Order: sequence, then structure tokens, then C-alpha cells
Amino acid sequence: MMTGIGSGLLVLFLCVVKTACALNASHLRGHEDYVQFLLASGVARTPPMGWNSWNHFQCGIDEWTVKSTADALVSTGLAALGYKYVNIDDCWAERNRDQMGNLRAKSSTFPSGIKALANYVHTKGLKLGIYSDAGYSTCSKTMPGSLGHEDQDARTFAAWGVDYLKYDNCYHDGSIPQQRFLRMSYALQRAKRPILFSICEWGEENPAKWAGQLGNSWRTTGDIKDRWDSVTSIADINNIWGRFAGPGRWNDPDMLEVGNGGMTLEEYRSHFSIWAVMKAPLLIGCDIRSASRETLAILRNKEVIDVNQDPLGVQARKLRSKAGLEVWAGPLSRRRVVIVLWNRSGVRAPITVGWREIGLSPSQAVIVRDVWKHSFVSKSVRFHLTALVAPHACKMYVFTPV
Ligand code: GLA
Repeated sequence: MMTGIGSGLLVLFLCVVKTACALNASHLRGHEDYVQFLLASGVARTPPMGWNSWNHFQCGIDEWTVKSTADALVSTGLAALGYKYVNIDDCWAERNRDQMGNLRAKSSTFPSGIKALANYVHTKGLKLGIYSDAGYSTCSKTMPGSLGHEDQDARTFAAWGVDYLKYDNCYHDGSIPQQRFLRMSYALQRAKRPILFSICEWGEENPAKWAGQLGNSWRTTGDIKDRWDSVTSIADINNIWGRFAGPGRWNDPDMLEVGNGGMTLEEYRSHFSIWAVMKAPLLIGCDIRSASRETLAILRNKEVIDVNQDPLGVQARKLRSKAGLEVWAGPLSRRRVVIVLWNRSGVRAPITVGWREIGLSPSQAVIVRDVWKHSFVSKSVRFHLTALVAPHACKMYVFTPV
């Protein structure tokens, strides 16, 4: 009888022979063992939280930036709130592999190497993430991709003590992403270190339908921009795929822009709220070493983080939208419900949520907690709730039935 890995290899071989072949559900199911192994190791049971270098620094990164960011995660209290992954994005490696074909850290910017960086981050109680690509080069074109080197690179990452791999989709051979991402997923499984596998395929081939069998999160859209229209359009696309998410497998609407300066505080608060209820990975994308008090107040809102990290792991969805006035809701553990009243319009307006539309009996009394104000709106509300919401702002409530 063939093992899961053996049958996977056969599939890969057949796929190489017949490049257009699609992987069927049974092949992918065989691989679920890896996701189960990760879950059993506690990886991605709730949406991953941490920091990633790309949104703020792009290719301007070095080991000093990464180390001082790890320090800042601890000193700001963000680490204690759950932001534990310190993720290096593109541009960390030399343009060429060494004579043995190994990836090597760029000596001008990461002179101590990635293993030393992982050790440093681990001593702080944090975890290290790295980036590669299911193609011949990464999107920046400054370093090699892992296509054809999957096992070698997965072994390298495991030996360095890496805990998270973001795997991108640029400059490949034209084969289907399922095939190329499966190869790295198997390689990580063989490398025997629980490495969270973050699939970055930009939602092109509906990854929600297959990526949960290969890894722990998948991008549902193209790259986020530090702009309001980017946040609203990404939220709408990510919303479509809600039912595919759950513990171990999350839709990824891309990293946070909170604190990067392109939006107002209300807009950042809405961005953070919607990402939290959509059970998105909460990966900070600003320079936290110089983050303002207001930025930190958003990122450190424990009540919002608790919603994101709720053990039920169900993605909230948009229930209603009219003239830019929206109601989003989703179930939480202990029969609670999270509600976001989101005003995307340009004018202050009332938004109402009725109990029936969120699955409660109209006469059910609920305790309403405002998780931005950190106060109770009421200990007993029935039928419906209305709030006046400022333009581009939102109200976020946790309802507890009594
Ligand atoms: C792609 C990804 C981004 C980032 C860049 C790096 O565009 O979607 O998140 O990783 O590549 O080059």
C-alpha cells in the first residue's frame, strides 16, 4: 500500500509528465495529514498574529530592522497580546544560490544569517517567518524562488529554525498553482518542523477551495494598498470565501496597513475591525518601532483581538449593505455574536441591526458590549439596536445572550 507521501509523489510525477493535470480531491485529502499535524502542534489554530516587513519596508530590510522590531514587539506589549510571528518578506537572500544550490542570506544586509536571527527571535519568545516563491525568482526579482528546490529549501528553513513560510506565486513555469504549492507543502511535511504554511496566490484560482488542504492560510486578493478603496474592495472579495475558513485554515486578505499613514484613524479602526471579524491573519505592516500612540491603541485593542482569536474560528460575513451602510456579523464561542456596523458612506448615518437577521429570537435579551469604547451599551437589549456611525467609521459590539 502506498503512503500519503508516496501517492503524492506519484501525483507529482504524473503532473510533471502531463503538465496540465489537475489535482483531484483525493490527492489533496491525502495531504491533510500535514495540516492536522500542524493543528496538533498548535499551529494556526487561531489566525496567525505578528508583523511582516513588506507593507512598510518593501526591499529595504536588514537584520537590525528585524531584531529591533522583535524588541519593539515585546516592549510595546504587542507580543504579550499574541503578535508572535516576526516575518521577513521578499529580498532577504543573495541573488544566486551557493555551489550546493542552497539559498543564502544576503551578506550585506543579513551578515549574521537567518539561523542567528531565528535564535534571537526565539529567545524573546517570538517566532520567525521567512518568504519564498513557487517560481524561479521571487516577485522582487532580487532572489531565487524555490521551484525545483522545494525539499532543499524546506530543509534549510527547518534547519535555520524558521516557524512560518510565506510562499508567493511569481515567475513560475505556467503550471497550475495547486501543483507548485503542493510540492512545497510536501517538502515542509518531510522537513519535519511545524512550519506554518502561508499560501500567497492572490486568489487567482479560487484557493479557498483547495489551499486549506495544503497549508494554513491563503491570500484571497491582490496586494493591499494603504488606501480606503483598497480596504473596502479587499473586504468584499474576502467575504465571499468565509465558509472555507476555520481552525488551521484561514482566508488571508493581506497584511495590515494600520499605522502606515495613508488612511485616517477611523479608517484604520474599520480596517482592523473588519480584518478581526473576518478571522484574517493579523500581521502588522507598519514600523512598530516608531508607531504612534493612536496606532498602538488600535493594534493593542485586546477585546478586538479576542474576537479574532475566538476558539470557534468562524469568519463573520456581510449580512446587509445599502447606500454604503453595512451590517457584518458572525458567531463566537459561548453563544455570543460579534456585530460590526460599518459606514462606508461619506455622511454620518444611523445603522440598525435586528435580532432576527443575526439568528436570535427577537425577544432574546442580550448584553451589548462596545469593544472600541470598552464599555457596556446595555445589559439588556431586545429586538434591535441602532447606532449613529461616523463616515468611514464602524461600531463593533459583542452580544451575549442572557
Ligand atoms: C507579492 C506579494 C506581496 C509581497 C511581494 C514581495 O506582490 O503579494 O505580499 O510579498 O510579492 O515582492
